Amino acid sequence: MRNTPLLVSPSILAADFGCLNQEIARINDCADFLHFDVMDGHYVPNLSFGIPVLQSIRGNTKLPFDVHLMVTNPHDLIQPFSEAGADFITFHLETTDNPIETAQMIRRLGRHPGVSIHPDTPTDRVFSVIPYVDLILVMSVYPGFGGQSFLQNAPERIRAIREELDRTGSGAHLSVDGGISEKTGRIASDAGADILVAGSFVFADENPADAVRRLKECGA
Ligand code: DX5
Ligand code: ZN
Repeated sequence: MRNTPLLVSPSILAADFGCLNQEIARINDCADFLHFDVMDGHYVPNLSFGIPVLQSIRGNTKLPFDVHLMVTNPHDLIQPFSEAGADFITFHLETTDNPIETAQMIRRLGRHPGVSIHPDTPTDRVFSVIPYVDLILVMSVYPGFGGQSFLQNAPERIRAIREELDRTGSGAHLSVDGGISEKTGRIASDAGADILVAGSFVFADENPADAVRRLKECGA
């Protein structure tokens, strides 16, 4: 049994971009965040969307924006995304020489810094950054595409980071991204996650709000 509620951050990557505001309206009352997968075609072999998309949504929802930067050079984008209304800005540990400075840059702009860890990066590499961030994003798929399967090594990686958060008394969120369904959401929650990022599971459902509610029950 958890002592904090399990939160859900639907990834709009899986939404219908032709009617994005209507898609968001369907989950607006039950989601806890909106997850934005920003891909540059370089750090990951795919392109998604950028600042104009955030701006076109910002006025239509009060949900916090959880921006996931899958880009080679996050430093160029932190300020523009902050100005576009991002609340959490998460960069990949592997894309900066000095992740602590990157996190501090986000903090100075008044935003919540987050750091994401690639499935092939040893989990202890993120430990020194924990005191400087409000969110750790564990990738449970290889970044770049929605609709992939939850990786088998994800639960042990989530557990290792949860233990370090608890050991150091950190209140940072532990978010898990990729291949989340009711089954894997429960596994991630049991391993210590407190946020589930889910794209296809939410937006492929004919009732996305109900899909969000079912994910929240994974923490019960
Ligand atoms: C993958 C992205 C994920 C993705 C999740 O690179 O970071 O946020 O949208 O999609 P699903 O839930 O379909 O695996
Ligand atoms: Zn993501």
